Amino acid sequence: MPSKFSHLYSKNAKEMKASEIRELLKLTERKEVISFAGGLPSPEAFPVDKVREICNYLLDEKGPNILQYGTTEGVTELRKAIADRMVGKGMNINYHNVLITAGSQQALDLIGKTFLDPDDTVIVGAPTYMGGTNAFRSYGALLESVPVDEEGMDPEALEDKIKQLQMHGRNPELLYLVPAFQNPSGVTMTMERRKRVLEIAREYDMVVIEDAPYSELRYSGQAIKPMKTMDEDGRVIYLGTFSKVLAPGFRVAWCIADKDLLNKLIIVKQAADLCTNTFGQHIAAEYLTRGYLDQHLEKIKSLYKHKRDRMLAAMDRHFPAEAKWTKPEGGMFIWVTLPENIDTKEMFTRALENNVAYVHGASFFADRSGRNTMRLNFTYATDAEIDEGIKRLAETVRNEIAMHKKETPAKDFRPDEDGMVFGV
Ligand SMILES: Cc1ncc(COP(=O)(O)O)c(C=O)c1O
Repeated sequence: MPSKFSHLYSKNAKEMKASEIRELLKLTERKEVISFAGGLPSPEAFPVDKVREICNYLLDEKGPNILQYGTTEGVTELRKAIADRMVGKGMNINYHNVLITAGSQQALDLIGKTFLDPDDTVIVGAPTYMGGTNAFRSYGALLESVPVDEEGMDPEALEDKIKQLQMHGRNPELLYLVPAFQNPSGVTMTMERRKRVLEIAREYDMVVIEDAPYSELRYSGQAIKPMKTMDEDGRVIYLGTFSKVLAPGFRVAWCIADKDLLNKLIIVKQAADLCTNTFGQHIAAEYLTRGYLDQHLEKIKSLYKHKRDRMLAAMDRHFPAEAKWTKPEGGMFIWVTLPENIDTKEMFTRALENNVAYVHGASFFADRSGRNTMRLNFTYATDAEIDEGIKRLAETVRNEIAMHKKETPAKDFRPDEDGMVFGV
């Protein structure tokens, strides 16, 4: 039911729609449904005892101070601990370059608020993280997609896209990337492409957002340095978060940027929330400085590697030859591509009847292509659920393929039916 005040809503708010997928996701909460839909860490991975120990220490030793308002830029101990960690990854920064935000999602919103006027252009991957596209859209930005393949965003296609846009008088301002174990595809951008994409960003004067919530979750293969380590002129804004490596409930994340740009983001954040949750920041600072994060990472990496391998093995066993999927070296997601005439959004109802859930791929494409794709999360389900859920999903896929054998490709997407999709 529309509110009786909806005629007073801002233009932007009027355009923000909840998607039917949210309603569908509610159905996945039925306990008989095995869900690979949400991007959730495993509850087994939350360090409850260590958090309890730190909370007791903080309340006993630091008392009321940690419950006070804090500065907008964040708790200094935490900023320093994060700066040290990022310097260790090769970034040439110090704690004055660090802003603590309420999740990386807030940083995406603040960046949108800082840079975007209605009809400004943002370039995103196809596919990409829907929380990013939604944040930019909420400021009236126009999104343009560039294909992401097994090596990340394709630089040639990026340059072609920019040239095409410029021919129409449009100069893209922001380039949004999730280079490491991308949500949704699990793909990691190669070093060669990172360098080339950065050169292109310099040449066409775009600010690059390097959104890296999964970068510490590598289970195999060689580490690749963040783009921020190659940033010569401060045009890369790097986003990190405790959500996937400690717990998302804290809503503590960090944004690393050139000092002057960071100062602007701080001013913008002041109007949003004054400061990020100080208690959570103190807990995160202790967690880092006591070395608990590194110990914990070892534990969750082995847990998640096991789950990834379990899901890939189950897919090898059960999925039909027509299905293709990524073999991510880290992160939380496997990306599945089905034959072109399969629409995973339509198939979702059948999957639910079979008590298994995923996120249909089109929600990760700004142009709503990718109708034959889907995202599977491998970190949340138990081993037994992975085995059984993949079996059910494979059966659903087989039936769907059999049903569509003689049909023509799926009909075109109609954006107004789907609205915007929110979620991790
Ligand atoms: C690529 C990406 N960016 C940002 C976020 C938001 O993370 P946070 O919990 O720090 O707001 C997510 C969450 O899934 C994500 O996948």
